Amino acid sequence: MSENKEADLTAANTENKAAKKKRVFSGVQPTGRLVLGNYLGAVKNWVPMQDENECCFCVVDQHSITVRQDPKELRQRCLDFLTLYIACGLDPDKSLIYFQSHVPAHAQLAWVLNCYTYMGELSRMTQFKEKSLKHQDNINAGLFTYPVLMAADILLYQTDLVPVGIDQKQHLEIAQIIAKRFNGAYGDVFRIPEAIIPKVGAKIMSLQDPTSKMSKSDVNPKAYIAVLDEPDTIIKKMKSAVTDSDGKVEYGDGKDGINNLLTIYSVATGESIESTQARFANLGYGDFKMQVAEAVVELLRPVREKYYDLKKNEDYVKSVYTKSADVANKIAGRTMDKVYKKIGFIAR
Ligand code: TYM
Repeated sequence: MSENKEADLTAANTENKAAKKKRVFSGVQPTGRLVLGNYLGAVKNWVPMQDENECCFCVVDQHSITVRQDPKELRQRCLDFLTLYIACGLDPDKSLIYFQSHVPAHAQLAWVLNCYTYMGELSRMTQFKEKSLKHQDNINAGLFTYPVLMAADILLYQTDLVPVGIDQKQHLEIAQIIAKRFNGAYGDVFRIPEAIIPKVGAKIMSLQDPTSKMSKSDVNPKAYIAVLDEPDTIIKKMKSAVTDSDGKVEYGDGKDGINNLLTIYSVATGESIESTQARFANLGYGDFKMQVAEAVVELLRPVREKYYDLKKNEDYVKSVYTKSADVANKIAGRTMDKVYKKIGFIAR
């Protein structure tokens, strides 16, 4: 990010309303591998938002340690995810692209907001219930207060829009509640963020169990397509996708596998579900799966190619996240100063 861009963003922070530019924030946890679900439900939708808005895209490394991580693997994954952000079309000349842990204000604001969030609210969070069932040996306090850190991520930048998949809706709602509660006590401190959830593709399902979400940390690699999977692997995984015995390529109740593949094709190509359905109405499942696989291969090909190009230039990637974090720290610092002043801390 150039000095000019920094000046632009600084000005945009104070003149956001006048310029009608909105602030966008979103992030992905560097766990497992970036999968088609993350791409279609989130990252792909971030790309066009960069033209009209001031965007902050973060690899939310601090969120990932609510589950035990191997330090060496985590370090590598953090870099890979950030590189993938750029490969997916996030543009360092338009957006800030950085690591959450490089902006200490995320954790600082999270502490403050913890004191304005109730235990009852956090214990109702679906993700907390699911993750504590899955990791019964490690139900740590971070897992419990995770939504507060996420609220801090968003509120820190006076964010207007948060593009996410449907599974994050509840977390967005609690961020709004916390922001309104804080504003109610201290005046207009935080902008109230709005979730942007795609109409189609907000929840891509597992290829092996199409009643549950495609997850980047699934232990069975056949359940997901990783953004970096090679064409042969994508085809194999698609061929083994669970469907049904009814034999009709149409959207409907009890046809979760087919519904999922129709959705994937539709989002991958931009064709509507209706027209996708009509296109494949007379095909058998084998041919249909092959066409979906080919659409996904073509969708992901440029991302994979750009990723391997970027891997050859780690200095460039480093310059992106370093410069972005410098600007992000300045924006975040302004919110922190305001928050500390409002709650009665002495200015340094
Ligand atoms: P995470 O890392 O689980 O997922 C990253 C993004 O991908 C979306 N997503 C999906 N969309 C469609 N189909 C799927 N199968 C699918 N799986 C995941 C998620 O909705 C998300 O948008 N808590 C967040 C990360 C986060 C964050 C934030 C997001 C931390 N702070 C602030 C936005 C703003 C998470 O765990 O996402």
